[in-house]
Amino acid sequence: MPNSGVKPQPGIPLFDTVHPLRRQASPTGRNLALRLGRPLFRHCSSYRLKVPQTVVERGIFFVKIFVTGGAGYIGGTVSQMLTEKGHEAVIFDNFRHGRRDLLPSGAQFIAGELADRQTLENIFSSARQNLQPFDAVLHFAALIEAGESMQRPEIYFRNNTAGTLSLLEAMLACGPRRLIFSSTAAVYGEPESIPIEEDARLEPTNPYGQSKLLVEQMLVWFNRIHGIKYASLRYFNVAGAREGPNGVTRGEAHEPESHLIPLILDVALGHRPSIRIYGDDYPTPDGTCIRDYIHVSDLADAHLLALDALDERTEKQPPLIYNLGNGRGFSVRDVVSSARRVTGHPIPEVIEPRRPGDPAILVASSTKAMRELRWKPRYTGLDDIVRTAWLWHQKRYRA
Ligand SMILES: NC(=O)c1ccc[n+]([C@@H]2O[C@H](COP(=O)([O-])OP(=O)(O)OC[C@H]3O[C@@H](n4cnc5c(N)ncnc54)[C@H](O)[C@@H]3O)[C@@H](O)[C@H]2O)c1
Repeated sequence: MPNSGVKPQPGIPLFDTVHPLRRQASPTGRNLALRLGRPLFRHCSSYRLKVPQTVVERGIFFVKIFVTGGAGYIGGTVSQMLTEKGHEAVIFDNFRHGRRDLLPSGAQFIAGELADRQTLENIFSSARQNLQPFDAVLHFAALIEAGESMQRPEIYFRNNTAGTLSLLEAMLACGPRRLIFSSTAAVYGEPESIPIEEDARLEPTNPYGQSKLLVEQMLVWFNRIHGIKYASLRYFNVAGAREGPNGVTRGEAHEPESHLIPLILDVALGHRPSIRIYGDDYPTPDGTCIRDYIHVSDLADAHLLALDALDERTEKQPPLIYNLGNGRGFSVRDVVSSARRVTGHPIPEVIEPRRPGDPAILVASSTKAMRELRWKPRYTGLDDIVRTAWLWHQKRYRA
């Protein structure tokens, strides 16, 4: 791997640590086998020799992952899962929409901006020089509001598309050659058929979706020309909160919030008088839009499986592209009804006109991820997803 020659800068923010890392395991295994509990060595490099005996004995490789956007909802959940499994997560976030108070325990964090390629290179090269290189990048950092992108497309292309280019250039210079990219159902636009397969037409109806599709298109060439191995995961509507032995640990806390489930739960908590339903004249059974809700823990599982799958691929093989959804559609009214059942609150609704660019139905076919990654979502019922979101919502506001 070429070294960019970039010297580590003393000025780089230190690796702040929320809690001291469990560093008994070497994070430098090149093999990204993340599934714990079975022998995992396949084609290990000399780094293997550095793995402490105790870890080798357990047949487990721990990995070191650079997590952009890890102070946000999904990146934070995945980082927490990584650290709970003994891996090392280094979060990189500008905290514009991230939450310092919700940083997962055990993860390190660096405050920084994607566009700052020099800082990214410094981080990657210092890690290399310390013989603790990153094994992969999980790239969650993005602006995520489709509605806002219709008002200010430029900030979406700069932040999401140009920001990712800066990250990719830093990776080429001295970073890891594996990437998991957070893509979105918004790359499809108005679907021609339901459920949506990965090879469906890609025609975003807003700049947010376009900014992500442009990244997917760049990645094709970075793979072909530079051998960057990547998986592009197209999430549908991510919801719910991660549960641990002591209850829910983290869930959605977007500010401003535009996602349906937390908005409905705001009503149940008395923070809003009613929930606005945009259009009840769609060609769906109850007239409201139908969406596919995927639990954030199931989504997190898919990232670990995708990392593992990447490891088994050669640079010449085509990249991995997967829809991540529940495969079941729920209307806005289904979600409101579920929240009424879960919270016991009447949740008044107000009907508003349709919003431009809202497709009637968006439901994923996730059979490819289930078949190839052996991914098995556990939260398939809507009430279960809403239940965890409700537990989190109450906890969040009590805190
Ligand atoms: N939440 C969903 O339902 C959903 C659906 C489809 C796709 N996605 C994708 O998943 C990813 C994570 O979404 P989320 O819901 O966790 O969003 P989020 O807003 O909670 O997290 C995004 C994080 O990225 C950080 N960030 C943004 N731009 C940055 C930059 N230039 N430099 C450094 N940090 C930056 C923000 O501060 C924030 O902490 C995004 O890429 C989003 O497009 C989310």
